[in-house]
Amino acid sequence: MIDKIKTLLNEVNGFNASSLQDVEQFRIKMLSKKGEISALFEEFRNVPVEQKKEVGLKLNELKNAANEKISMLKTALETSGSGKSETDLFLPAESMKLGTRHPISVVRNQIIEIFNRLGFVISEGPEIEDDWHVFSALNFPEEHPARDMQDTFFIEKSPDVLLRTHTSSVQVRVMENEKPPIRTISPGRVFRNEAISARAHCIFHQVEGLYIDENVSFADLKQTLMYFAKEMFGENTQIRLRPSYFPFTEPSAEVDISCNLCGGKGCNMCKHTGWVEIMGCGMVDPNVLEECKIDSKKYTGFAFGMGIERITILKYQIKDIRLFFENDVRFLKQFESAL
Ligand code: DAH
Repeated sequence: MIDKIKTLLNEVNGFNASSLQDVEQFRIKMLSKKGEISALFEEFRNVPVEQKKEVGLKLNELKNAANEKISMLKTALETSGSGKSETDLFLPAESMKLGTRHPISVVRNQIIEIFNRLGFVISEGPEIEDDWHVFSALNFPEEHPARDMQDTFFIEKSPDVLLRTHTSSVQVRVMENEKPPIRTISPGRVFRNEAISARAHCIFHQVEGLYIDENVSFADLKQTLMYFAKEMFGENTQIRLRPSYFPFTEPSAEVDISCNLCGGKGCNMCKHTGWVEIMGCGMVDPNVLEECKIDSKKYTGFAFGMGIERITILKYQIKDIRLFFENDVRFLKQFESAL
């Protein structure tokens, strides 16, 4: 019996097949009910008790070897295509799917690029901030509602740790560390404790701009913003400035552009006014300069801040701000051609 097992084991080990049919035939020969290995299991009954252990082990070894060989040959033949499945070698290759940049990244890069051309360099600051950089140094009065729990995500009360509500905090960090002339833009994420809707989100992105030097005037600010608006929204874009209030600028203004959808004639996007708001701006308040140890008698400056989502929504006529955060490829794919 042992000899018979050895012979069959050699046969199994030496077996090779060129088709799935050969493999099946081999399986029937060895392992089917009437197969040779099955026959040995029948014979096993007659093996004397003292040999049963040794013979049993060898027999199982043989059966396992046969099963393994069969499944190995089967997979090899199926995947190599010499089995029944056929591979069409002339099929054109599947094109590789390229990822696309997120629309917020696309527009952020465009904004950066436009201001780079005017000599603004990028500076960044932390998203987790303290009260001084986000509010106090920017001339927010102690009881200003923006410090309220409704707007700000506070992490700790004392020492005060919070998520920045605007990128104006980076202005302060730059003024603390650098001497004028300063010409910088600061893109980044900001956080506000707001209910999420089609028009508002608790996380969004801003770009802050800051220019400080001797004799910087409101006319410089206006000219800079005009250049930006035309580069971003097209040569025919007009701007207008409306008086406004921010604690850190005096005077302050809100900047509108002529509606880029209807060209100023009036449509749903501009609520039939012909104008849409794109950012806030103003001349840096002397208190802010002094707070950051910059001589406000010698230096003046302007600042501006815009939401990147807002600019993107206007540029691409997007109806719902939540789309930016959902990562739905059907939305993202539409920006394939944007840089
Ligand atoms: N920080 C303001 C906000 O988040 C935006 C802003 C307005 C920034 C006027 C400025 C500015 O630098 O001058 O609403």
